[in-house]
Amino acid sequence: KNVLSVTSECVPLVKTGGLADVAGALPGALAPFDVRMRTLIPGYPAVIAALEGAQGVAEFASCFGGPARVLEGRAGGLDLLVLDAPHLFDRGAGIYLTADGIDWPDNPERFAALSWVACEIANGALEGWVPDVVHAHDWQGGLAPYYIARSPAKGRVRTVITVHNIAFQGLVPADRMAALRLNAGDFHSDGLEYYGQVSALKAGLVHADKLTTVSPTYARELMTDAFGMGLQGVLRARAADFVGILNGIDETVWSPADDPHLAKPFKAPRGKAANKAALRDEFGLAEAPGPLAVVVSRLTEQKGLDLLLAALPGFLERGGQLALLGSGDPGLEAAFQQAANDPNVGVKLGYDEPLSHRMMAGGDAILVPSRFEPCGLTQLYGLRYGTLPVVALTGGLADTVIPATPATMARQVATGLQFHPVTADALRDALAGLCDLYAQPKLWSKMQRNAMAHPVGWDQSAAAYAALYNRLTGPE
Ligand code: ADP
Ligand code: GLC
Repeated sequence: KNVLSVTSECVPLVKTGGLADVAGALPGALAPFDVRMRTLIPGYPAVIAALEGAQGVAEFASCFGGPARVLEGRAGGLDLLVLDAPHLFDRGAGIYLTADGIDWPDNPERFAALSWVACEIANGALEGWVPDVVHAHDWQGGLAPYYIARSPAKGRVRTVITVHNIAFQGLVPADRMAALRLNAGDFHSDGLEYYGQVSALKAGLVHADKLTTVSPTYARELMTDAFGMGLQGVLRARAADFVGILNGIDETVWSPADDPHLAKPFKAPRGKAANKAALRDEFGLAEAPGPLAVVVSRLTEQKGLDLLLAALPGFLERGGQLALLGSGDPGLEAAFQQAANDPNVGVKLGYDEPLSHRMMAGGDAILVPSRFEPCGLTQLYGLRYGTLPVVALTGGLADTVIPATPATMARQVATGLQFHPVTADALRDALAGLCDLYAQPKLWSKMQRNAMAHPVGWDQSAAAYAALYNRLTGPE
């Protein structure tokens, strides 16, 4: 099977969140299942710079406001198709945001162009290669299934869209439809219209052959009023074609036994002690009687870290410590900086991949108190590194952590803690429970071993994606 993955970010080239990790891992994970996945990605400066053996394979005289071409090449072990359109992608600052932190005003056009070129490739724009399936990610790829459904060559290429986060819907005023190459006739509530605007994500959800999201629980949640963010009706209508497939992590990158970022790589939980000592030094924390909890996260409403601020004093009173790495919302950044006045709290604002590895290695627990979480990757890293996840009972967090309950403790299978409802009080109780477990070394180390043994790789989920592609296209 030939599959074209359409994504706005991809590890190791550009990343703002977990989508990049997943897009970067899928091609390798799918290779053993006879899937050849090529990745279509915008030609941001970092991507163009990293591309090896670049060769032009398609040209478009007019691509949403300027000329563009598709470059074929490799980078980071990936087989890439890069949309080289300088008028859209050759800029500094962020891939979605200006230096002032606001959306680039032409984001709708930028990612419409990406989706339109995906459709062109589906329709044979590249000599000698045509995908069987186009697999789009999030709103940035959302128009690809639409353009393909509307194009005359319809019939051969099937489409899949994956929702990584329903909070981002690619909304644009309807007066830009013509500029975005959308048919005015599709502006209705069973088409592209979303409360008076056009939604690129909805376009994908309505027109793709199959819809997926990144965990089974989030798939169910998305069809409810509480989590669907206005798209629950669309998803309910497509329930028969909608499935949740859990993300994995790249176990070669996240491997405690030979992680190059660690002072002391380790195979068993006791090997964490040296890493914990090093991490304490790095964050300027002294020894403490309670567990060292870590957070690696975007600082946004979604992640529920305001709840942590509220629950923190109780945790510190019980001897706990916190080390946080994150960036985002200025209010949360300031609040955590303030919290770091406590000698048992260390905060680093910014984005630091190597440090995130050292935190997984040196932490006792990883906190993920999200209000919603499609899958979540840091709790999976935590499991792999024997850093027990304390997570909200939602989305992929519900699907990946076995909470300590009387039943799971009796069977000795627990890997972490879950709390519900997602409130500061419930988090405070969970952190108290964490301190109690930490005070029982035998139970604690059993949970660490359970965590490290829990499967977090791609095997099962890659098989599920391959099966989905096969159902769409029939056997080879
Ligand atoms: P989301 O995509 O919603 O941000 P995920 O848990 O799926 O959440 O993925 C987040 C990814 O970004 C993980 O790989 C995590 O380690 C990484 N990450 C988030 N913030 C930082 C940071 N400040 N420094 C380094 N890595 C970070
Ligand atoms: C999104 C979600 C996160 C998920 C990631 C990769 O950014 O917020 O939960 O793990 O996509 O699918």
